[in-house]
Amino acid sequence: MSFKEGFLWGAASASAQVEGAFDEDGKCLSVWDLAGKHVKTGEDCKIACDHYHRYAEDVALMKEIGLNSYRFSVSMCRIMPEEGKINEDGFRFYIELLKELKKADITPICTLYHWDLPAWAQEKGGWKNPKIIDWYLMYVEATVKALDGYVDYWVTFNEPQCFLFFGYITGEHAPFKKDLLFLRRYVKNMLLSHGKAVRLIRKTASRPVKIGVAMVARGFIPKSDSEKDILKAEKAAFRGFWAEATNTIFTDPILLGKATMIMKGCLKKADLEIISSPVDFLGLNVYQPMNDQTDRKAYSAENHPRTMMGWAIDARCLYHTVKQFYCRYNVPIMVTENGMACPDEVKGGEVVDEDRVNYITEYLRGLKKAADEGVPVLGYQYWSLTDNFEWCEGYRTRFGLIHIDFATQKRTLKKSAYTYSEIIRSNGESL
Ligand code: FCB
Repeated sequence: MSFKEGFLWGAASASAQVEGAFDEDGKCLSVWDLAGKHVKTGEDCKIACDHYHRYAEDVALMKEIGLNSYRFSVSMCRIMPEEGKINEDGFRFYIELLKELKKADITPICTLYHWDLPAWAQEKGGWKNPKIIDWYLMYVEATVKALDGYVDYWVTFNEPQCFLFFGYITGEHAPFKKDLLFLRRYVKNMLLSHGKAVRLIRKTASRPVKIGVAMVARGFIPKSDSEKDILKAEKAAFRGFWAEATNTIFTDPILLGKATMIMKGCLKKADLEIISSPVDFLGLNVYQPMNDQTDRKAYSAENHPRTMMGWAIDARCLYHTVKQFYCRYNVPIMVTENGMACPDEVKGGEVVDEDRVNYITEYLRGLKKAADEGVPVLGYQYWSLTDNFEWCEGYRTRFGLIHIDFATQKRTLKKSAYTYSEIIRSNGESL
């Protein structure tokens, strides 16, 4: 059997992208509630998928698909709507959701930070201000206490690459700052928050839990299957400016206790000790290979069709990424995100998303091959359970296994959900 028993077949979401209820039960505004004109379609995330009120229906749909896990995030805005103040009301929704998941026998994987920074924290500098470490840790401790007994898998952060570099360097994501000078400080604050959180979660949880972090992961696809090219590709994934900015700047300190070139001198030995507190798994969000960034000519767009996001589709991507990260870091891997956006429509009551059906099937074949070759893969979380608010793209880039009509909130299972369902039923043997 390629995938071990208990393999976590799931789908992922994030609070700001699905919950809605933007001002309920004491929640404060997030930097994404204030994105305004930056969202290309003029939309906002005030209602999103209304998951906050429709979670029971959504869990029933997960059950129908056959998922045995669900990756979601807690919004810091619900739990710490003011500096240093915990809002107990903010936990109610998550506890109800967790009870529903438990009834359905679905294992929760809880992400503690998926980009929706409280607006008050940004007013005080956000990730530039070292105080963010204390705010984040206070929020983490309260959350782990409140959800204790329900959650065995914790993810400290989702894609620091995106919320720090797009949020504070290129200005493409909330809070839309361009602040290159402070890059090292942002990275350091995040890394210390992560390392301290790992220790705090273990101390706070009343039973042993598994802790990881979800990273943007870009592997490099070799030119051929020759051993030489495979080795060359392995190196290319972790060497050079793009490899550092995308992969190693975060994963080397966390998993090897080493600072990369950019961070040399900024991370002291004592910092690195905290940052490299042992984790139980590495979460990989796999969408595009590195080739697309560094080897554009050889890796031409003609040979690789694109998703609606413009991201290259290449069935070899998941296999090589997972292999390369495991080779370098030697920790169990969880695919915390992988998926594609399509302009899906309901026709005659159905959504025939053939492209996604092929995508899931082919990418999972790659994951199966990696597992066959000995990579300990704990799970696969398709991005995303439902169509949702895709940050600055708004609602048009549909990633879901479940279609949402945003005017009526009607949910329709897409063809890909049925395909995924069959794969899950056979624990991947049908691939
Ligand atoms: C990832 C994000 C996730 C979603 C997908 C499409 O970078 O983690 O929230 O937007 O991309």
